Amino acid sequence: MKSFLQPKLQLLLILLSLYSCTAKKDIAQKHSADSFNPGSVWNDTEGNPINAHGGGILFHDGIYYWYGEYKKGKTSLPPEATWEAYRTDVAGISCYSSKDLVNWKNEGLVLSAVKDDAAHDLHTSKVLERPKVIFNKKTGKFVMWMHVDSADYSKAAAGVAVSDSPVGKFKYIESFRPNNAMSRDQTVFVDDDAKAYQFYSSEDNKTMYISELTDDYLRPSGKFTRNFENLSREAPAVFKYNKKYYIITSGCSGWDPNIATIATADTIMGLWTVQKKELCEGPDADKTFYAQSTYVIPVQGREGAFIAMFDKWNKTDLESSRYVWLPLRIDKNGATVLWQEKWDMSIFDK
Ligand code: DGJ
Repeated sequence: MKSFLQPKLQLLLILLSLYSCTAKKDIAQKHSADSFNPGSVWNDTEGNPINAHGGGILFHDGIYYWYGEYKKGKTSLPPEATWEAYRTDVAGISCYSSKDLVNWKNEGLVLSAVKDDAAHDLHTSKVLERPKVIFNKKTGKFVMWMHVDSADYSKAAAGVAVSDSPVGKFKYIESFRPNNAMSRDQTVFVDDDAKAYQFYSSEDNKTMYISELTDDYLRPSGKFTRNFENLSREAPAVFKYNKKYYIITSGCSGWDPNIATIATADTIMGLWTVQKKELCEGPDADKTFYAQSTYVIPVQGREGAFIAMFDKWNKTDLESSRYVWLPLRIDKNGATVLWQEKWDMSIFDK
């Protein structure tokens, strides 16, 4: 009896495990991607559109984390608005994680809006943009810098939050005007010597400030420079390659696209020289492919491989804004972002 049942039972178990493997594979493959499709809906691993705008990337312990503005619900224009200050209610900052930069797992909101205190920087009625997270090796803390503003953008301040884990939750600390100057579009950058810097559009977006941070990354150290004076640049995205610093910026035209430029410097606080050759190439390059810079990702383990991250804003339906991620190449002629309809990491092999 025993010897007759056993082979049958074994076969059944094998069949069952084969079935469950195929079913699992189906689920996994349903929402897995192998290419970048700039401007198209980009789903996370659960099949929902990624919602992380004006974002930035942190690479930590073998994982990429993408932080961005979680834009949910109706886009509206405040009745008193004198310009196209389209907004969604603040919902918070989202986080996604990935090992390959193509497939992103939703880690949820790592900083949430505040609903019951109208005076709070994170109240739903405010503006919360361009979060960037850096890791402080000395303190072991993840530090988020972001643009916090009033609905009419008159507050023009930087907000800071900290967390013990890359996936939060982050604890909001405070906001201020760094170096007593307005701060709107912004990013933060950690140099090889572990010194960190905030880059921010100041003086009514006319001049870009570069401000060294304190060793804990929580405040400006007091050392800063004024750059691109009166040139009205915003949407800064900073990276370093071969001892040179690079910054991509856009012009100032609200949510509407304009032409991006890239500048280089030998020292991080400047002087910056704008590259003569256009950064973007291909159809609609003069409008940055209808998108705006937010970050440049150094691809880990691939020398000289960078991905330029842009937001393709949909100003009347901000939640439906898309992402344009493109390879950025640097050669003797300078930096180039060439339009691709669809691409994958093998582009860096060429
Ligand atoms: C352009 C900025 O880059 C965005 O982050 C946002 O602040 C819009 N302006 C608002 O119009």
